[in-house]
Amino acid sequence: PINLRGRSLLTLKDFTPEEVKYLLELSKDLKAKKRMGIKGDLLKGKNIVLLFEKTSTRTRCAFEVAAFDEGANVTFLTNSQMGKKESIEDTARVLGRFYDGIEFRGFKQETVEILAKYSGVPVWNGLTDEDHPTQVLADFLTIMENFEKPLNKIKFVYVGDGRNNMANALMIGASKIGMDFVIISPKELFPSEELINEMEKTASENGGKITITDTLDGVVNADVIYTDVWFSMGEESKVQERINLLKPYQVNMDLIKKTNNPNVIFLHCLPSFHDTKTEMGYDVYQKYGIKEMEVTDEVFESKYSKVFDEAENRMHTIKAVMVATLVG
Ligand code: CP
Ligand code: NVA
Repeated sequence: PINLRGRSLLTLKDFTPEEVKYLLELSKDLKAKKRMGIKGDLLKGKNIVLLFEKTSTRTRCAFEVAAFDEGANVTFLTNSQMGKKESIEDTARVLGRFYDGIEFRGFKQETVEILAKYSGVPVWNGLTDEDHPTQVLADFLTIMENFEKPLNKIKFVYVGDGRNNMANALMIGASKIGMDFVIISPKELFPSEELINEMEKTASENGGKITITDTLDGVVNADVIYTDVWFSMGEESKVQERINLLKPYQVNMDLIKKTNNPNVIFLHCLPSFHDTKTEMGYDVYQKYGIKEMEVTDEVFESKYSKVFDEAENRMHTIKAVMVATLVG
């Protein structure tokens, strides 16, 4: 029997394939429960703090609504003393006295590790420069909802910046599940050798495989095409460099067609640069003359795109993570 009570979710590396599948099944159940309009109290009396160094829409709101749905209270904290007047260690010990669980979004992976080590309560990684494990759970739940076949029969192709938090997190998750996982990116943005080696081992233990390539032929027979922004939070100075490197790797209709799979789905963690409606999108258009970056508006708005189901699933999967680690 699987019991995750008391555990932190810093990276999916720390979870067994069975534990990952358990979280996905629990997410499915909690989503069905919400759909039936059943109000829960699984987290009644729990207090949760959400600590943010970077901006967020989905992650913050997913944690809050998930907590409210099951009766927990939340504090959203963006202006704490942590890292400025107070060490992460001391902050962790204080928050651990007040709260039953801590979510952290920010720069260093080390910060979630220190918070977990010193707080004595479950810590959830809501995105760091290296990883984004809760996003992967939402992505996999969305795949489960769109295919009859099991996750380990899925060919998952990530196209774009192969070194960012999403590429890392998806490689880790896919290796645990045993998917046929492909990263297509320019050589300059291949994932770290260290992570590839580690995850190749995990993938082969679970009947999966990892392919890293710079040619678009890797998309043939893909079930899922995934991409993410060309410059992540904190990389705003790299726009020109990334446009130069990643322009050939844009997800457009030609790429979707190249999969040769009429049932292929398109996923993106969001937010995404598919138009110039945003301040940043408009700015990029003014400075660099391009209106669409990692994905065209045509693909984003197409029948292949499941990005808003995926966004909704952040809430159901994060709820499962909190329920599993706080209650068991
Ligand atoms: N996908 C995701 O993490 O979105 P936010 O940055 O809005 O939280
Ligand atoms: N790679 C993106 C993911 C956002 C959810 C970033 O870190 O900005």
